Formats: sequence, C-alpha cells, structure tokens
Amino acid sequence: MQICSSVQEIRKLVSGYRTAGDSIGLVTTMGALHDGHMALIRGARHGNNRVVATIFVNPSQFGDPSDYEKYPSDNERDIELLKSEGVDVLFMPDVETMYPVGDETIVETTKLANMLHGKVRPGHFRGVTTIVARLFNIILPDQAYFGEKDYQQLQVIKRMVCDLHFPL
Ligand code: PAF
Repeated sequence: MQICSSVQEIRKLVSGYRTAGDSIGLVTTMGALHDGHMALIRGARHGNNRVVATIFVNPSQFGDPSDYEKYPSDNERDIELLKSEGVDVLFMPDVETMYPVGDETIVETTKLANMLHGKVRPGHFRGVTTIVARLFNIILPDQAYFGEKDYQQLQVIKRMVCDLHFPL
C-alpha cells in the first residue's frame, strides 16, 4: 500500500491507474476504522480494480473545536487494517493541504444540510460536502462508498454529486 499526503503525489498515482484502464473505488474516512469501514473497503475492492482510502479528520465538520481535538486517532492501527484489506493507496493529507491559506470556497446542500440532524449541528453537513467535494476533485474516483448508517450524510452527498455533476 502506498501512502501519500500531497495532492501532486495522489494525482500522479491515480492518473497512472486511469491510464492503465483501471477503475478506482474511493472510501473516505476520518480514521478510527471499524467493521463498517472495512465493509466499505471490501465493497470498493470487489467493484473496482484499484482502491483508494483517505484518512482526514475534517475540522470544518465539527461545531465544537474540542470535539475535533478529542477525535480518536490511531494511524498505525488503521494503516495495518487498510493494508490487510488490500487497499492500493492511502491519502492522508494535512489540514493546510485540504484548506489552503486564503481558502474561501464552500459546498453546501442548502435544504438537506439544514434539516433533521443538521438543525442541531449547524454547519456540520456543509463541512462534510466541502471536504468530500475536494477529495472527489483530487482523486476523481469512478465509485465512492459511504455507510448507510449515516443516512442524512449519504443523502447530502448524493445530492451534491448530482447537482455538481461529479462523474462518479
Ligand atoms: O463519515 C465520515 O467519516 C466523514 O463525515 C467523511 C465522509 C469522511 C467526511 O469527512
């Protein structure tokens, strides 16, 4: 498994796969991997020639900065798990890479993000769509895999993919 943290590196790897005619499945995560993530990875493995996973704890989807600081992280364990499932590439960018200095572009589903769970976590789904859109743009997957337990997140992401014509 290759591990990279820069946009340039991951783009180069993925573009090599695409040139070789391989399809690319993406599983985005914030780490602290569990069985649900592993099921998504297996789905991606089954449906594609190449699997890319990401670990990025996304500050913009946390309302309370202390929740972000406290988010569990065990990269060594996560890396071993991803290797054991045959992931081809792990993208682990830092905050400055995903939110460059002067950053001011956001992605928001204006209705879906602000109902149900979005009412009690203002800005949460905007943070999710903003980071997922950026990851999609960097990796350009053919298929992306999200858990159904986070039902509203899944609907928000599907809406965004449809509205922004992401080719996946
Ligand atoms: O479901 C998650 O782990 C996160 O919300 C996601 C989709 C990786 C975006 O940060």
